[in-house]
Amino acid sequence: MQRANFSRVGFILAAAGAAVGLGNIWKFPYMTGMYGGGAFVLVYLITILFIGVSLLIAEMLMGKMGGSDAVSSFEKEAPRHKWAWAKAGYLFFIGLIIMTFYSVVIGWIFYYIYLTLTNSLPSNMEDAQNIFNHLYHNSWMIQVILHAISVVIVGYILQKGIKGGIEKFNLILMPLLIVILLGLCLYASTFGGFSKALSFLFVPDFSKLNSEAIIRAVGHSFFTLSIGIGSIMAYAASLPKSANIFRSGLWVAFLDTFIALLAGVVIFSFLFEFGSEPAKGPGLVFMSLPIIFVKLGFVGTIVALLFFLGMAFAGLTSAISLVEPTVMYLERRKGISKKVAVWGSSFFYFAIGILMILSVSDGFKEYLMIGKKSLFDAVEFAVDSFLMPLGGILIALFVGYAMNKEAVKDALKDEMGETIFKIWYFSIRYIAPLAVLFLSYNALIS
Ligand code: TRP
Repeated sequence: MQRANFSRVGFILAAAGAAVGLGNIWKFPYMTGMYGGGAFVLVYLITILFIGVSLLIAEMLMGKMGGSDAVSSFEKEAPRHKWAWAKAGYLFFIGLIIMTFYSVVIGWIFYYIYLTLTNSLPSNMEDAQNIFNHLYHNSWMIQVILHAISVVIVGYILQKGIKGGIEKFNLILMPLLIVILLGLCLYASTFGGFSKALSFLFVPDFSKLNSEAIIRAVGHSFFTLSIGIGSIMAYAASLPKSANIFRSGLWVAFLDTFIALLAGVVIFSFLFEFGSEPAKGPGLVFMSLPIIFVKLGFVGTIVALLFFLGMAFAGLTSAISLVEPTVMYLERRKGISKKVAVWGSSFFYFAIGILMILSVSDGFKEYLMIGKKSLFDAVEFAVDSFLMPLGGILIALFVGYAMNKEAVKDALKDEMGETIFKIWYFSIRYIAPLAVLFLSYNALIS
């Protein structure tokens, strides 16, 4: 099937849609809470700036130059060792692994949309914890159904092609999400908890920084920018020649970071205002925000609806980008029809997703542990600490060493200028691979 090219804005939007997702609104705040605040945020920001953006641009470059699925792009752009490098292209598979829990979380959002519509959001912390914990630990059937709904929506959009539907959704919903978050931020600024939230997020306390926190901050910076599994590569494959990769990369990274920080400020203001400790894990967003929404009465219901809808769409646009690389591979390399490629991939992550749900459900969880962690936590940890860094390092080594330097330079030097190109190239060749190696090693021994 012929793929339509993105417009320039369309690409930035789609890539930002891929980047801005549950990672920003769900994962970033709860990890910041878990790992102690400011110091974690600082490591996250530094890695985004010095490693993340470089890698994002590298992956975009590979996609634009390759113009096809990840395996083909790796193969085409390596003048030597084609065969070995093509193997690196299989990193697209990580997207489906991520989807095994990502889709489940999107299901939780659907549940909260339902609660909003039926006026049954919790009005105090105790209820909030009960409702979430009940869903998380005792309602596996509901979770499976919601997970299935998310799988079907994602599959449906993928099957229709990305450009027509999803670009338009992004265009409306991303700005809406920002407006909602800004509005909530304004409201939160009237709280006493607001300044506490700011200092929690932006005043680093290095005594709280252990090696696990550093590893997770780096892993998360890859996750949030959607680096290392061929999502960005797949999108950039449909870029028009005139598109500016450097500028697009900066835009995507900026939007992504801005939205994560904004969500963090809002959520922690609410948390501190209500006197709850921020170290609560995956339930954070689902417990602290609804209380506020209920307090706001009717307006709150509208805001809650908008917020959860915005979050659902942010999640769905990212979900699509997680599955698309696999679909593209199956279509292009295996000649499989779009329909079969989409629903085959969907079935795979749907089935494993059920195991993820059971792994945190009472009655099943003791059978689905990996070490001390539930399967759910273990997979998430493995994605952050090993799989995404692995993807990142492969891309860095490939663009830095395997690709022809002149070709890389030609593609980027007009956009970046000589000096920035040199810095970027240095980062790709030395800083990014070494930093990632060091961190994955530490994750291994920790
Ligand atoms: N970045 C998205 C988020 O923050 C998730 C995501 C989409 C992703 N595509 C990806 C993560 C590719 C890693 C790789 O929610």
